[in-house]
Amino acid sequence: MSHQPEILVHPSLELLQAAAAERVVTLIEAAVAARGRALLAISGGSAPPGLFRRLSAEPLRERVPWSALNLIWVDERLVPFDDPESNYRLARWTLLDHVSIPSAQVFPVATYYDAEQAAARYQQQVAMLLDQHGGQIDLALLGMGPDGHTASLFPGFPQVAAPDDALVVAVFDAPKPPAVRVSLTAHALNRARHVIFLVAGADKAPQLRAALQGPYEPATIPAQLVRPPNGHVTWMLDAAAAAELYAL
Ligand code: 6PG
Repeated sequence: MSHQPEILVHPSLELLQAAAAERVVTLIEAAVAARGRALLAISGGSAPPGLFRRLSAEPLRERVPWSALNLIWVDERLVPFDDPESNYRLARWTLLDHVSIPSAQVFPVATYYDAEQAAARYQQQVAMLLDQHGGQIDLALLGMGPDGHTASLFPGFPQVAAPDDALVVAVFDAPKPPAVRVSLTAHALNRARHVIFLVAGADKAPQLRAALQGPYEPATIPAQLVRPPNGHVTWMLDAAAAAELYAL
């Protein structure tokens, strides 16, 4: 499969979220039609909530075969489930509380452990789910920070170069608070059949150009690590984030 990503630019964050929600539903429908189930990996950050709200309301909600999904997190902050910083809480409020996905098919990071234990436990769960899903994540939703991080893989951090068998890592001293996190590795993300990056805001523009049109420097731009050999990558951008891209 080609390493050339698809790049879609939308006039505003709202239109980007609406288009992304439609795309997510279409990909879920296709995955479930082909394989009977789908494994989804979701992020926190500023773009997903508007997307999740659209998925959890009609007309999209009724199109999603919720009982055929397994849900994991791309990354999580090591805070209690009810903490305002929790990515699980964000998804719960904007999505999970409004749809009929069985709770046994929702796999939050066990943030009541310490980061190493939570990562080790999540590694087992993600490995088990990958086994159940033919070795691939059907869809991973990612963001990118202004520094080029994705998931909780930060520039210059050793987790960027995790060993091949590591699917999940613990992260300490993250520059984006909260400092302690658990993250899927690039190896896990590169098991995706489809990746959608949601990137909005002028502060992302320089690093977005570097990520998409600059040299391959994944140690400083971890988002570049996501190049699934058997998958397709789509960057869904708002106009502000895309402002510094060379002619598309
Ligand atoms: C997190 C996120 C993180 C996010 C990026 C982009 O928990 O912090 O999962 O990886 O996707 O930081 O976030 P924004 O869209 O808010 O810039």
